[in-house]
Amino acid sequence: MREPLKSCPNQYRSHSLSGECYLVPLVLIVGISFVNIIQLLVQFLNFIHSAASIAKYSGTCPAPANMRLSVKHKRLPLRQLISKLTNKSRDHLTPELEMRLITPDSPLWKCRPEECPFVDPYWAFYWPGGQALTRFILDNSNIFQRKNILDVGCGCGASSIAAAIVGAKLVLANDIDTTACEATALNARLNRTNTLHILNDNILNKKSTSLGHVDIVLIGDMFYDSEFSQMLLDWLRTIKKSRVFVGDPGRHGLDNLTRSQEIQLVSEYDLLDHTVLENNGFKTSRVWEVF
Ligand SMILES: C[S@@+](CC[C@H](N)C(=O)[O-])C[C@H]1O[C@@H](n2cnc3c(N)ncnc32)[C@H](O)[C@@H]1O
Repeated sequence: MREPLKSCPNQYRSHSLSGECYLVPLVLIVGISFVNIIQLLVQFLNFIHSAASIAKYSGTCPAPANMRLSVKHKRLPLRQLISKLTNKSRDHLTPELEMRLITPDSPLWKCRPEECPFVDPYWAFYWPGGQALTRFILDNSNIFQRKNILDVGCGCGASSIAAAIVGAKLVLANDIDTTACEATALNARLNRTNTLHILNDNILNKKSTSLGHVDIVLIGDMFYDSEFSQMLLDWLRTIKKSRVFVGDPGRHGLDNLTRSQEIQLVSEYDLLDHTVLENNGFKTSRVWEVF
């Protein structure tokens, strides 16, 4: 007859392991170690993947071929070009962070689109949705501490930088635009944050599981276009296990969602006067949690 398993703990405590009771903890230890090794391997592979992404942003990335560059700018690496053509600014809702942006003092502020070397430089503005979301992160550090964070459409990188500053475990800043990724790297360094991982890719085409475990997804001001908003919402619905925070000043792409039970208002901030003027009169910007 087999001894009932409940006799094992005493034997385990007395260190006199023998027979089947020796085997049970051994199998457990080997099993748990195997799972740990697999988990470590997955984390290592994710890390290598992210590290490869960061390596791309070590400051040597050349300007994209489609840039309209004057002769004196032609040989500059992208990051130097961004530094040259933007200004450091704290004139936003998160003055703790200094961001390189196109400001009224910048030579690019009044130039016509065809004169600007950067195509669609969304990263060069700190959008009202991103400002609210970043303010929320800095004021609610407990939500983000020790969490794996994914910032989709990071632009200038402010929300990612804030998440890293308040103690997130891992921050992955993502943007489809190479220049936004360079700007994020530059701004991270400006704010003495050297732990960001940066991914230049369209992850909305990918299964969310390919990104590894994500606790919190950040979406700053991404609902400016109806078609893209729908794509973003469809993708968000595939992220079942992550909390999702959206910063938005009231753009139409979020209208249907704000009328539903799938979203809850968590914070609202008054925008600075100049931000109101530059953003179609939006006076406040909100942070929502999407369920
Ligand atoms: C309006 S800006 C917002 C930037 C930043 N989150 C903020 O609030 O200041 C939108 C950003 O989304 C990026 N973007 C657009 N489509 C994207 C996609 N499929 N994947 C990742 N980023 C995308 C753009 O390049 C741009 O930097």
